[in-house]
Amino acid sequence: MASNIPVRHYLQFADFSADEYAYLLERSAFLKAKFKRYETWHPLHDRTLAMIFEKNSTRTRLSFEAGIHQLGGHAVFLNTKDTQLGRGEPVEDAAQVISRMTDIIMIRTFGQDIIDRFAANSRVPVINGLTNEYHPCQVLADIFTYVEHRSSIKGKTIAWVGDANNMAYTWIQAAEILDFKVNFSAPTGYQLDQSMLSAGSKNHLTVFSNPLDACRGADLVTTDVWTSMGYEDENQARLKAFKSWMVTDELMAVANKDALFMHCLPAHRGEEVAASVIDGPQSVVWDEAENRLHVQKALMEFLLCGKL
Ligand code: CP
Ligand code: NVA
Repeated sequence: MASNIPVRHYLQFADFSADEYAYLLERSAFLKAKFKRYETWHPLHDRTLAMIFEKNSTRTRLSFEAGIHQLGGHAVFLNTKDTQLGRGEPVEDAAQVISRMTDIIMIRTFGQDIIDRFAANSRVPVINGLTNEYHPCQVLADIFTYVEHRSSIKGKTIAWVGDANNMAYTWIQAAEILDFKVNFSAPTGYQLDQSMLSAGSKNHLTVFSNPLDACRGADLVTTDVWTSMGYEDENQARLKAFKSWMVTDELMAVANKDALFMHCLPAHRGEEVAASVIDGPQSVVWDEAENRLHVQKALMEFLLCGKL
């Protein structure tokens, strides 16, 4: 369906400005309140979302599918196994075809280059539902959750304990745009790739060799699996290397008293996080998961209708 809004994509956190995030956070709260009141809101009536998954998902699939439905539209689920993408159809050709039949596209895939090539050939907005490099929808939900529980994230300190993965790089991008700090700690051999960091984001980042030091005085402690999707062959080596990078009560104790704990899920209790932390009073992981629904509704509405 043709739209008057120029095509914008959401491929990484850096694609939007601080002002646009201020709008999206406010809009997410508005849409969440409407949803809780069972109010019908169908700005995307008759619109179709294509969801392309090259990796597994529970939250991303469910939140996008329920979200487009709640906005009056419809979702089509595609995966590599059942489509011609799994038989070598070029990404560029798939983008041309899928974007002629749908209004908006969400993709979960491997390299960021794949989603970049797809978007370059799409006539409708493309959203990153996770790549090896970034997971912007999750960090948007996490920041919305922080704002809901506390207040603005500006000037706060986030402690990242664990792998230099898609979530870590997205938090670091967000820190530059929304002006907060990231304390990062990972074992030797699993450090950040400096070529992925902008000069600006380096000013918002401090790297610690000891995870305890990274958590000292933090307003939010967060972690993620030691082995992300696509890296399963490295699992045994990672289990050994990351052993001391578990978020425990000891780490939470040196953070600020009112610090929150977040994890994008799925989690492995006894690996990257102790059960007492993820199931404890500082954990807001279920709110984070629910908020994927609300922020992605605001995101889809914004990409298709602009500011309302
Ligand atoms: N957090 C997240 O993206 O979860 P899924 O892998 O279940 O989509
Ligand atoms: N870093 C994890 C996030 C899963 C939602 C992965 O990429 O597998």
